Amino acid sequence: MTSTWSTLDDIDLSDREFWARPPAERDAAFGLLRRAAAFPFYAEPVVPFIPEGPGYYAVTRHADVEAISSQPTVFCSGPGAVSIADMPPELNEFYGSVISMDDPRHAKIRRIVARAFTPRMLEKVMDSVEVLAVDLVERARQLAEQGDGTFDLVEQISAPLPLRVICDMMGVPPEDHELVLHNTNIVLSGGDPEYIADENEMVRISLEAGAALAGLMTRMSEDRVRRPTEDLTSALVHAEVDGERLTHQEIASFFILLCVAGNDTTRTAISHGVLALSQFPQQRERWMADEALTKTAVEEIVRWSTPVTWMRRTATRDVELAGQQFREGDKFLLFYNSANRDEDVFADPFVFDLGRSPNPHLGFGGPGPHFCLGANLARREIAVVFRTLFALMPELEVVGEPARLRSSFINGIKSLPVMVRG
Ligand code: HEM
Repeated sequence: MTSTWSTLDDIDLSDREFWARPPAERDAAFGLLRRAAAFPFYAEPVVPFIPEGPGYYAVTRHADVEAISSQPTVFCSGPGAVSIADMPPELNEFYGSVISMDDPRHAKIRRIVARAFTPRMLEKVMDSVEVLAVDLVERARQLAEQGDGTFDLVEQISAPLPLRVICDMMGVPPEDHELVLHNTNIVLSGGDPEYIADENEMVRISLEAGAALAGLMTRMSEDRVRRPTEDLTSALVHAEVDGERLTHQEIASFFILLCVAGNDTTRTAISHGVLALSQFPQQRERWMADEALTKTAVEEIVRWSTPVTWMRRTATRDVELAGQQFREGDKFLLFYNSANRDEDVFADPFVFDLGRSPNPHLGFGGPGPHFCLGANLARREIAVVFRTLFALMPELEVVGEPARLRSSFINGIKSLPVMVRG
């Protein structure tokens, strides 16, 4: 790969403009970082109203991301896993829920919420996902046929599908789905100007979006206290662990996490998957002809797209890692995008190979207590969407450039023009 970077000093992962660069340029930067400084250090990005901290180490190699993820007592999540800056604890937990907690509290709350993700529960959800996928694809076809044959894949399929799945799991009434979509877009926008026009308003607008989601959840929780139902909200309201129930606040935080963790991620994987299949048409033909490829194909889509670019960990004590010494309190950003292109682990990492096996990607996080709770749900959603597209829209073609989200955190695609021929 040719590089636009002459020296390591040209690369600044904290510069928001870095995340607006074309993917190939970013990949080239991470390639240099993997091969050079073991853990390059960056100052924190400048975010209005958030005090700058001491900076962070970028973890770019697969082996190091795995090593850190698997030692949660040395590299913890508590001070914040989804923000670089240390937030006030209330805010951190409000936006982070289990993802920004450590054991024993993390394990306790994860045990409650994990009940919604058992294979039996997933089977129930999946029946409706299949119906939903067919419905969305057919509607998109009608829309295309009424117009010039094109539609926006993100708006019609990749965004509404995971959103509907989470809303149905939680029991969100249909009239509030739009509220959930709108506010999760803001929470995860990373300050993308489409969602937050004035950077100085970023903190206020994000807080308002979180509060809107929390407000909806509090209303629903209060309702389930009075009238228990079959949904996850009701299960959370009534669940007890060690004689304790979750508070409405804890349920609201978990809801925000589910919305942001389950929506934009799966949406991103689906959109990148469609884009990649158009860039690698032989892979598309291969998968269409062989349903048995689905398992490895889905893993490759997650590796390729790496929807979550990083998670953070903080050292709980002085520690040595890969021969380098670190201090208690040092922050680490685990760059999954880079780990998933690590030449030491993946043969031809820049080739999209739907039969890749083994495929030890870290798209759902490294081995450890925070490994994605929704991984199996996401895998099934992705599989269903692609099999439905192959069956009902075999001629789907990407006909324009994707609009990419300018975010260091989510490798998002905001829109992707596609066409149905035939
Ligand atoms: C392709 C789609 C998805 C990707 C790439 C993804 C990725 C991730 C990553 C990287 C983590 C953090 C792992 C760590 O810190 O070590 C995570 C955690 C989590 N994910 Fe996912 N995720 C996806 C879909 C979902 C879905 C569909 C749900 C639920 C509906 C979900 C719920 C969660 C939860 C609750 C956590 C926190 C787990 C904990 O801290 O114990 N995710 N995910």
